[in-house]
Amino acid sequence: RIVYLDGAWLAETEAKVSVFDRGFLFADAVYEVTAVIGGRLIDYAGHAARLQRSLSELSLACPLGPDALLSVHREIVARNALKEGLIYLQISRGAADRDFVFPKAARPTLVLFTQAKAVLDNPSNATGIAVVTLPDQRWARRDIKTVQLLYPSMAKMEAVRQGADDAWLVEDGFVTEATSANAHIVTRGGTLVTRPLSHAILPGITRASIVSLARGAGIPVEERAFTPEEAKEAQEAFVTSATNFALPVTTIDGTPVGDGRPGPLTARMRALYIADRL
Ligand code: PDD
Repeated sequence: RIVYLDGAWLAETEAKVSVFDRGFLFADAVYEVTAVIGGRLIDYAGHAARLQRSLSELSLACPLGPDALLSVHREIVARNALKEGLIYLQISRGAADRDFVFPKAARPTLVLFTQAKAVLDNPSNATGIAVVTLPDQRWARRDIKTVQLLYPSMAKMEAVRQGADDAWLVEDGFVTEATSANAHIVTRGGTLVTRPLSHAILPGITRASIVSLARGAGIPVEERAFTPEEAKEAQEAFVTSATNFALPVTTIDGTPVGDGRPGPLTARMRALYIADRL
């Protein structure tokens, strides 16, 4: 693969970042994952806007302007002949002597790489995924997309250890989100329920698209928190993320959701997303 590092296009084995980089020492970095289908960027404007927001929450400046950033995204797809998969982008505060105070002189490190992945033909769409609930022990600013991913990684490992595919995280009795996706349910009455935006969850770009597509299609949407108990009683459950679009959840803590098969509204949301965004 050819990766992008601070203005240079390099073979992946040649791309090196300093041991003093604050992304490495402090997780002082933000990231984005954008899906690529048929060589095209999916929902790019949303990802670019959220990147700016994450940067500004951490008083970080983007090393590239909006047009240059888009060009780099397009160029990395072309250089790697990427048809389907994702672009990972990370901006850290850069290298400086280790100090808890943000160093004034550090120059941000900008990295992009691609990863091929079957997004459209993900086999989990046909089967759905199994989730288990686990306590949400992440920090309290999950609205900022930082690379502080140790707890989500530990939770996913625990879910896999329990024979599931992912975890739904729970705080104060309510589901926040999955380890790397937003969590949604469909009530028996056919209402799409999703947690409102706050510091407790990442403002998913796919979530925003799905909510607006649902509203546009006349599907009732309620933005409110829901409990694991309500989710287990729901008609359908699903997760959304850049590379999963809308992916059915068919069991929660071993309890089948609805009839235990991927639900029709989830399939419809996925189809609407594909029709609108691809
Ligand atoms: N994860 N919530 C969390 C905690 C996430 O990490 C993600 C994305 C989402 C979904 O956001 P979006 O729809 O913008 O992808 C929600 C990315 C894909 C990742 O870490 O790989």
